[in-house]
Amino acid sequence: MKHYTIVGNWKMHFGQPEAAVKYVKKLHERVKPHTHVTSVVAPPFTALAAVAEEVESDTFKVAAQNLHECDEGAYTGEISAPMLKGLARYVIVGHSERRRYEHETDKQIAKKVAAAVRCDLTAILCVGEKLDDRQEGHSKRVVVDQLHGALSQVAAEDIKDIIIAYEPVWAIGTGEYAEPEEVRPVVNVIRQTVEEMFGRDATSGLRILYGGSVEPDNCKAYLQAENISGLLVGGASINYEQFSRIVKIAQHLADSS
Ligand code: PGA
Repeated sequence: MKHYTIVGNWKMHFGQPEAAVKYVKKLHERVKPHTHVTSVVAPPFTALAAVAEEVESDTFKVAAQNLHECDEGAYTGEISAPMLKGLARYVIVGHSERRRYEHETDKQIAKKVAAAVRCDLTAILCVGEKLDDRQEGHSKRVVVDQLHGALSQVAAEDIKDIIIAYEPVWAIGTGEYAEPEEVRPVVNVIRQTVEEMFGRDATSGLRILYGGSVEPDNCKAYLQAENISGLLVGGASINYEQFSRIVKIAQHLADSS
């Protein structure tokens, strides 16, 4: 049976604890636990504690959207992996919005991935090419380079705590999703690259998610693709009807796989 992971990245929405709790209640009314679908919500830091308290952990896990690469120190305003313990089980790392607006580099992202796994958090490492990379036919090369950089500080035994999210940058928040036929070869190259880096044994359970303008109407095709085991959902995850529909589609597909 196929196992799916569906992650909702709330970005800078529902950051007030009351709003986040209200939203989680709506999700709970619609989504029931499922053995083969892990559903994850990623609220802003300010709502993490309230969401962690509110969620029924057999139905939803909690993710942070970022972390600092050091465990502690003089880093005003930053949040480290040890600070997330007890609040989140997952953490999104290297999202393209952070690469773009905060100028995060693969070198820095590598340290963040290592910091996450050091603290028993599952890192959701985002990779993906920009529009001009795609137009020049460099999608695979860009993603391979990002993987080599961002996974340079972890060992084979850490791979079980790392999920890769393939998110073509041009498809994020644009409504212009990547056709599954276009996603498939890149996802295959992701698996192959991680296998080459860490060996087949360590990577046999590797989870690769697709992200970029995912919605209820287009999610099925990704979920049915061979090397895709879940989704990273942005815009549609802040609409409880849409996010619950996506989770239910994954549950249905898992049941029939
Ligand atoms: P989107 O965002 O679903 O709104 O395209 C995806 C993401 O940023 O992870």
